[in-house]
Amino acid sequence: MARNKIALIGSGMIGGTLAHLIGLKELGDIVLFDIAEGIPQGKGLDIAQSSPVDDFDASLVGANDYSAIEGADVVIVTAGVPRKPGMSRDDLLGINLKVMEQVGAGIKKYAPGAFVICITNPLDAMVWALQKFSGLPKNMVVGMAGILDSARFRYFLADEFKVSVEDVTAFVLGGHGDSMVPLARYSTVAGIPLPDLVKMGWTSQENLDQIIQRTRDGGAEIVGLLKTGSAFYAPASSAIQMAEAFLKDKKRVLPVAAHLSGQYGVKDMYVGVPVIIGAGGVERVIEIDLNKTEQKQFEASVASVAGLCEACINIAPNLK
Ligand code: APR
Repeated sequence: MARNKIALIGSGMIGGTLAHLIGLKELGDIVLFDIAEGIPQGKGLDIAQSSPVDDFDASLVGANDYSAIEGADVVIVTAGVPRKPGMSRDDLLGINLKVMEQVGAGIKKYAPGAFVICITNPLDAMVWALQKFSGLPKNMVVGMAGILDSARFRYFLADEFKVSVEDVTAFVLGGHGDSMVPLARYSTVAGIPLPDLVKMGWTSQENLDQIIQRTRDGGAEIVGLLKTGSAFYAPASSAIQMAEAFLKDKKRVLPVAAHLSGQYGVKDMYVGVPVIIGAGGVERVIEIDLNKTEQKQFEASVASVAGLCEACINIAPNLK
């Protein structure tokens, strides 16, 4: 059987990390695409030269022409401009929307059968625009945010409780931004919900609230430290988990930015919700019950995503 083909649109910090992880995990052959000449070729060659040391077989091709992505099974999009200190995800909107238009056209022409994972920020609006620009089926275009947000939440909780990250599950809903909704009662240590752990004296409500806030600000904290860019290791790992779920038909239950057509009362928008990912892309959107407070927070998050989509339509009326 031929190897899978995975195309990376954008070969910057996340793109390069993705290529390395795909090689190490032997998920398939890799095409690194970028508008910058030499970067995808250089990163591809560098990673290829690590393959004899790390014992993996993969073809790594760098390209500046979309024809190189022809027939890709998975396309992961990081093309665009990352956040700089003091810049919100929303400031990126105008620049990255134009990038999504080019990327959408490239995917439409050369990889219309692919499972497409968008990482470019502001995520929920960019993945929505990318689906429209590419015209691919809605269940085959998803955004990566929830796995990253819940991984941050899980890491902070494991650190607080002094337990393995493996035993902490976390649930984050809504848009990828300051309005994301970490759900404490659906987040657990080995099945014990966080509110119970507070009752058991493992932590205080105040500490838990601080952790939730730190999760919401997770991206900005890294931007503030790096100064010249945004997070790339954890975002890359998170997208790989989604690609693997599709390529191996794992039916994983993962929080992703998925197209909603009435679920959670939301129509024609991409918002972070739990879904099942398998060979059919997004095979099912899981609708959970929210209590009043959670519902209010979710609605506020959806409203901020809707605002971004409106801003996109103002720039590109053909998105309507
Ligand atoms: N087509 C293809 N590639 C592009 C285009 C375009 N129109 N415009 C920019 N790029 C490339 C840049 O040349 C760069 O190599 O996208 C790459 C982006 O890489 P980085 O600047 O290193 O950004 P990265 O840290 O990888 O983040 C990418 O993910 O998390 C989000 O906010 C982040 O939107 C940003 C994206």
